[in-house]
Amino acid sequence: MPISIRENEPLARYTTFKIGGPARFFIPTKSEEDIIEAVRFAASQNLPYIFLGGGTNTLVSDEGYRGVVIRNEDRTVSFNGPLVYASAGAILAVMVHEAVQRGLSGMEWAFGVPGTVGGAVRGNAGAFGLSTYESIYRVRVLQPDSYRVRMLDRDELTWGYRDSIFKHNPLIILAAEFMFTPIDIEQCKTNLELYLARKKESQPLGKECAGCVFKNPHIQSFPKDVSLPIEFFQKEYVPAGWLVEQVNLKHHVIGGATISGKHGNFFLNANHATAADVVQLITLAKERVYEKFGVTLEEEIVYLGF
Ligand code: EPU
Repeated sequence: MPISIRENEPLARYTTFKIGGPARFFIPTKSEEDIIEAVRFAASQNLPYIFLGGGTNTLVSDEGYRGVVIRNEDRTVSFNGPLVYASAGAILAVMVHEAVQRGLSGMEWAFGVPGTVGGAVRGNAGAFGLSTYESIYRVRVLQPDSYRVRMLDRDELTWGYRDSIFKHNPLIILAAEFMFTPIDIEQCKTNLELYLARKKESQPLGKECAGCVFKNPHIQSFPKDVSLPIEFFQKEYVPAGWLVEQVNLKHHVIGGATISGKHGNFFLNANHATAADVVQLITLAKERVYEKFGVTLEEEIVYLGF
């Protein structure tokens, strides 16, 4: 089947922020062949392309994106003992849930993380001090210049805090294989429930937002004379949500956008917010935190079309 190419497709509905103008071209894909065709199409039009994933960590501009948005809708997940193969378009929480039902432990922390496997691999999604790469075995990639597909072994990959080789390289993530540890199924389910309960307690889950807006700055990026709670020195990172709270911006509203009262690193589309409203809130938070703490917050979210 040929790929379907839609023109001027509104992107708001494909993002968890529910914000953003149209994509010049929008191509949903169901297979690796579709992805290759979509990338070829972008090249033929001389346009840039991006993969949207679950649209969970993305702020799309009000003007939209003048390129090709590719949305991998291949949700395949398959199991082979402790090895789990998931298409980049698979829903992360579904993969984790299916693994947990089989007593496969390693990513129980990720059940409450929205988005796709591809997005989690690219951004090295994490929570509770754990991250996606700890469970990765191999990643299946497409080289966009040669259209060659190959497997990258774990030792060919580099990653860091909310960072991976894929943020610095045009390689396209097609799928990932995870290596989990078989444990008692009930224990695995309990782990998942405990992580989810902790998340529900501290984060506004289910709201229109993009997860954490900022990365937590490393303790060493602060000027030496700034006083910070001792616990942050042990953890090495200072929670951006705490910094936003310290500058009294929780509940702050600009247009339709609000900083959550539950967690200062969650910015909500509370009332038909525009991308411009969110950008103004982000700018304000960065300014206030810089004035008080001398540190520049760095976005974890990705901007599209700005
Ligand atoms: N805190 C505040 N005020 C706030 C938010 C947090 O004082 O408004 C304090 C908390 O009381 C706690 C500390 O900051 O002492 C850490 O808070 P939390 O446990 O909520 O973790 P976080 O550092 O804010 C990180 C990740 C989350 C992940 C949680 C759970 C980043 C940027 N955030 O948040 O990841 O879910 O840990 O482990 O690394 C994401 O990346 O999108 C994300 C949500």
